[in-house]
Amino acid sequence: MSSVIKINAITVPEDSGDQLGERFAARRHSMEGTPGFQGFELLQPTDGRISWLVLTRWDSEEAFENWRNSQSFGASHGHKDGEAPQKPVGMSSELWSYTVFTTG
Ligand code: HEM
Repeated sequence: MSSVIKINAITVPEDSGDQLGERFAARRHSMEGTPGFQGFELLQPTDGRISWLVLTRWDSEEAFENWRNSQSFGASHGHKDGEAPQKPVGMSSELWSYTVFTTG
């Protein structure tokens, strides 16, 4: 099945990566049951960069856009009703769109 790949590249201060990883681990279950969501991996840099990649796969552009505009996006990002927002670990982030190249 072809995948729509959306990568969020999050730049974090040096030595804050573990904290980012812990926050993802704590919220990974919030993605369960998201329509059209195939899965994600949090990629940790091994070459001294300070950008971590959240690699996500989707059935379609529409599935991704629906999630981004939904409350469950907020829930995965710490914006829960009645909860004070945590200070973000990341300094900046950038969204990249990819697909898997296939010949023929
Ligand atoms: C490609 C899709 C995604 C986009 C566009 C996106 C967007 C963002 C943005 C803009 C940030 C930085 C702002 C901030 O630190 O709060 C961020 C951080 C974060 N995202 Fe995502 N995200 C995506 C996928 C995911 C997924 C699948 C999860 C699953 C749990 C997730 C959980 C988090 C967490 C835990 C943080 C760290 C928040 C912190 O620093 O405390 N994100 N995301």
